[in-house]
Amino acid sequence: MSSDLPDTVIVTGAASGIGHAIARHLLAQGVTVAGIDIDADGLSETREALGDRFHPFAGDLCDPEIPERLVGAAWDAVGPVAGLVNAAGIYPVTPLFDMAVAEWDAVLNLNLRAPFLMVQALGRRMAAAGIGGAVVNIGSSASTLARPGIAHYGSSKAGFSQLTRNLAIELAPHGIRVNAVAPGLIGTDRVMEHAQGVGRAEHAAKVARIPLGREGRPEELVDLVAYLLSERASYVTGSILFVDGGLTLGIPSY
Ligand SMILES: NC(=O)c1ccc[n+]([C@@H]2O[C@H](COP(=O)([O-])OP(=O)(O)OC[C@H]3O[C@@H](n4cnc5c(N)ncnc54)[C@H](O)[C@@H]3O)[C@@H](O)[C@H]2O)c1
Repeated sequence: MSSDLPDTVIVTGAASGIGHAIARHLLAQGVTVAGIDIDADGLSETREALGDRFHPFAGDLCDPEIPERLVGAAWDAVGPVAGLVNAAGIYPVTPLFDMAVAEWDAVLNLNLRAPFLMVQALGRRMAAAGIGGAVVNIGSSASTLARPGIAHYGSSKAGFSQLTRNLAIELAPHGIRVNAVAPGLIGTDRVMEHAQGVGRAEHAAKVARIPLGREGRPEELVDLVAYLLSERASYVTGSILFVDGGLTLGIPSY
């Protein structure tokens, strides 16, 4: 194992997309991964694909009792756990006048409240055990770039950035670092399915806004996540690092 990484890391959203790519990368470095996701079948398939150092814990992170329950279960099964990646998230697109309060709540509960509860549950254990730790939050370029249809998502990710900074300050005395990686457009299976179907025009318009001229691949951010989890980043906390091909820089051309 890469000795500067935590022995064990919890990854939420590990059944697919960015969380899955992060779990795969950490496992390849010798880390034991506890994967949390609502998709129990996806977690089982992930264990089959990635091996038995991947430990699945199924649950709905929108339920406020689930973070404490699953963090406790993971700590008892594979702990002590000195790393956490909050990658579970949803990003529905709905015009403001059609946005139901239930959808607003679901987005805020998963994208913002659940990571707060995850850090609270795991941070308490890390602090009590005196092992320090590192948290990486998967934010989004939508934390700073507004666009129609994502009032809930943009708000959740802007809040997530500020949550990252607040947690970094509050957990620093316990030796726990908290950072965020904010992706732009990343070509996960879900995103590329949409891009090749009904979302073709929308996807092309998004890519046209990216200075590097293409969507990113999940593999293009996993190294940064591993770095932030590792001792190599021992003086980095409260940072929001964009991995977006330059998307948030401005308008690439007229
Ligand atoms: N793909 C992108 O272009 C992109 C860009 C910026 C930010 N992000 C962020 O990256 C993160 C991962 O996105 P992704 O593209 O890999 O999406 P994804 O849909 O492929 O993966 C998200 C995972 O979260 C899980 N999940 C959904 N609801 C859950 C719940 N209630 N409880 C527990 N798990 C739940 C899903 O089952 C899925 O495995 C999200 O936070 C997203 O906002 C993605």
